[in-house]
Amino acid sequence: MKIIVLNGSPKGNVSVTMQYVKFIQEKFPEHELKIMNISERIKKIERNEAYFKEIISEIDSADGILWAFPLYVFLVAAQYKRFIEMITEKQVQYAFKNKYTSVLTTSIHFYDHTAHNYMNAICDDLDMKYLGYYSADMEDLFKESERKNLTTFARNFFEDIKSGVVTTKNYLPISKKEFQYKPSLSPEKIDNHNQKVVVISDLIKDDSNLNSMVKTFKNSLDNVEYFNLNDIDIKGSCLGCLQCGYNNVCVYEGKDDFIDFYNKLKGFDVIIFAGTIEDRYLSSTWKEFFDRGFFNTHIPIFKDKQLGFIISGPLNQNSNLREIMDGYSQWQEANLVDFVTDESEDSNEIDMALQNLARQVIRSASSNYVKPSTFLGVGGMKIFRDAIYGRLRFPFQADHKYYSENGLYDFPQKDMKIRVQNMILILISKIPSIRKDIYQKKLKQEMIRAFENI
Ligand SMILES: Cc1cc2nc3c(=O)[nH]c(=O)nc-3n(C[C@H](O)[C@H](O)[C@H](O)COP(=O)(O)O)c2cc1C
Repeated sequence: MKIIVLNGSPKGNVSVTMQYVKFIQEKFPEHELKIMNISERIKKIERNEAYFKEIISEIDSADGILWAFPLYVFLVAAQYKRFIEMITEKQVQYAFKNKYTSVLTTSIHFYDHTAHNYMNAICDDLDMKYLGYYSADMEDLFKESERKNLTTFARNFFEDIKSGVVTTKNYLPISKKEFQYKPSLSPEKIDNHNQKVVVISDLIKDDSNLNSMVKTFKNSLDNVEYFNLNDIDIKGSCLGCLQCGYNNVCVYEGKDDFIDFYNKLKGFDVIIFAGTIEDRYLSSTWKEFFDRGFFNTHIPIFKDKQLGFIISGPLNQNSNLREIMDGYSQWQEANLVDFVTDESEDSNEIDMALQNLARQVIRSASSNYVKPSTFLGVGGMKIFRDAIYGRLRFPFQADHKYYSENGLYDFPQKDMKIRVQNMILILISKIPSIRKDIYQKKLKQEMIRAFENI
């Protein structure tokens, strides 16, 4: 059987994910696994039509496709995202249609599920026969039990293709409606109250809904700075080289304008992200922004800022994208104020929603309001905390310094009061009469007793 492996690592062959693919290759020599380095070669793929066609014809002639990639900032790397966009732009969906496919990733399980949801939806959109995913921790291959699991995953993949199993789709197609937003309000200006507000967009077309929405938002406030990602000199996407791990200095330092631009954002109180939905995310330009921001590694540099999203497109049909942006905001320890979209198809309502967003960001910024995290932020931060304290302290030395200095190592083991309390209570609860008294009579009341002093 011929399987095309679409390698999503910008590191090409020197990729952790490809070690997992090579393991499968060695376990199943009867099948051909042909690796195509998509992310590493994206510039050539974009420039050279013949090369793009060669890849598509390999895909067309394969029995199955394995999307194999590292997690990059809640999703695939920007380069891989760009390749996915090119499939529709160049109308080569035919090569993917009805093809069996699976997804293999490596990561530290930080939002691996949102990347998998994304790829599942993309496969469904391409009418592929999706056989499921395998989400490996980047160190899983060192464990015998995980090698066994990976072998089973691969065996099932080959068997299912051979037997032609029936697959079902997990995602409905996106339904898009034609609607032109026409701003009708001449907005009353809202006082900035000295809060610095910036809007960033990836606008290409002047007549787009996004452009009009950005204008309405900007007109609603006294003072808004604006940047278009397309006007910033960005030489390329994140290469995954990890040079930033030592002291947050990016390999692109001095080579383009992205780092200066990104550092400028740190000076604003409110950051508004404006973009149009492309496939099941925003554009690859936006993805490049998030990936290149990784020179700050795992440090929440937008801490305490107010974040808002102006989105053109069907966000209500894309809860995964909403979760990504919510998770991103919470991981940044920022306050996600709201999303405004053009889905209502009512210009008046959109006008008012944008004005309301302007009002809300200023109100929240003025009162330094950051709402508590949900599982998205709390759970995510614990993954980073454990990783940076342990196996990723080297190479991420800058993160370790920040986490130590900012109390992010909040391991419960260190809480002496809780440890002593647990020891005493566990000990006395071994006596049946006391245990009965505590569990049947006192527990509920004791849980609220400490609140009485507040
Ligand atoms: C820019 C960048 C972003 C990353 N984002 C995530 C992430 O969101 N979630 C996660 O679990 N791991 C993340 N990782 C870790 C990689 O997914 C992991 O190290 C992977 O095994 C690298 O595979 P590769 O060597 O094939 O590129 C990120 C790494 C880099 C360099």
